Amino acid sequence: MEKIIRWGIVGTGNIAHRFAEACKNTQGAKLAAVASRSKKNADAFADEFDIEKRFASYEDMASSDDIDIAYIATPHGTHAQNAMIFMNSGKAILTEKPAAINLKQLDSMIDCAKKNNVFFMEAMWARLVPGTYKALEIINSGVLGKVGGVRGSFCFEMYDEPDHHVFDPAQGGGSLLDVGCYALSFSSWYLGTNPTEIKALANVGKTGVDEHCCVLMKYPGGEIAELSSAIMLPKPNEGYIFGEKGHIYMKRFYAPQKLELHISGKDAEEIDCPYIGNGFEEQILEASKCLREGRKESSILTHAQSRLIAGQMDAIRAQIGVRYPVD
Ligand SMILES: NC(=O)c1ccc[n+]([C@@H]2O[C@H](COP(=O)([O-])OP(=O)(O)OC[C@H]3O[C@@H](n4cnc5c(N)ncnc54)[C@H](OP(=O)(O)O)[C@@H]3O)[C@@H](O)[C@H]2O)c1
Repeated sequence: MEKIIRWGIVGTGNIAHRFAEACKNTQGAKLAAVASRSKKNADAFADEFDIEKRFASYEDMASSDDIDIAYIATPHGTHAQNAMIFMNSGKAILTEKPAAINLKQLDSMIDCAKKNNVFFMEAMWARLVPGTYKALEIINSGVLGKVGGVRGSFCFEMYDEPDHHVFDPAQGGGSLLDVGCYALSFSSWYLGTNPTEIKALANVGKTGVDEHCCVLMKYPGGEIAELSSAIMLPKPNEGYIFGEKGHIYMKRFYAPQKLELHISGKDAEEIDCPYIGNGFEEQILEASKCLREGRKESSILTHAQSRLIAGQMDAIRAQIGVRYPVD
C-alpha cells in the first residue's frame, strides 16, 4: 500500500483554504496539521477542515512529529524565513509562488534544503494541470508548425484593498511577483528557458510596486513572448500560443481547463481538459510521489526552473525600477 504523506499547512489565509480543500480530496495525502500565528485562527481553520493537529506557532508545528511536508501559504516576503524553519527541522517543503522575492533569497532556500537533505518545490501548480500537458502535446504533434510566439495576460484590480500585501514592497509586492510569475512560467513552458533579450515597462504606483507590467522576451529562434500582469487594471486574462499553421487560445492562459485549437483552413476545435478537483491536487500528487521515491526535487518543477523565473523577475525589476528592502 502506498505511504500516506502527512501535510501541514502554514498560514490560514485565502490560498490555504483552496489547498486544504484539495489536500482532503487527494489520494495518498492526509491533511494532518495546520499552523497559524494565532490560536484562534489555527482552531477556526482546523475546525473548518476537520484537522486533528493545530498549532499556534509555525515553530511548534515544525518541531512536531506530525507532518512530513509543510505547505507555505504566507505572503511572499515570509516564504524564505518560514520554509527554513521547517527545513531546519527536517521537513520537506512545498512553498507558494513566488518561492522567494529574489534569486539570492531563493538560493539560500535551496541551499538550506540541500544542507538538510529535504525535498523543496515551488507551488507552480499551473504547470501540472492537464491543460498544460495537452497544449504541450499539441505543440509536439507538429499541427501548429513551428511556434513563433506566445501572448499571456494575468491581470486584475484591487481598488478596494489598498492595505493588501501585494502593495507592500517588504512583502515582494507588485503584479510581476504576484501573477507575472505565471506569465514568465507560461513562456518558459512553450518557448524555452533561454531568452536572449528581455524588455520591460511598468507603471509603478505610490507604494513603489509595479501595478501594471508588460514584458517582451525574444528567444534564439526568433520567437517572441508578449506578457502582461496587473493588480490595478482588469485587462482580460487570456493566452495564445502562435504557430505557423494556427494557434491555441486559452481563456485562463496559465492553467486552462479548455483549449481552443485554431488551424488555418479548419473549423476551430474545443478541447476540454478539466482539473482533477480545484487545480491544486496535481501538485500535491507530484510532491507526495517525490517524497515516496525519496527524491529531493521534482523533475518537472525543478529548482532550476524556479531559479530561472526568479532571475528573470530580478532582471525585469532592475529595468522597471522596483526595489525591495531585502534586495
Ligand atoms: N497558487 C495560487 O493560485 C495562489 C493564489 C493566491 C495567492 N497565492 C500565494 O499564496 C501566498 C499567500 O497569499 P494569500 O492570498 O493566501 O494571502 P492571505 O490571504 O493574506 O493569507 C496569508 C496568511 O499568511 C499568514 N501570515 C504569516 N505572516 C504574515 C504576515 N506578515 N502578514 C500577513 N499574513 C501573514 C496569515 O495566517 P496566520 O495569521 O494564520 O498565520 C495569513 O492568513 C502568497 O505568496 C501568494 O502569492 C497563490
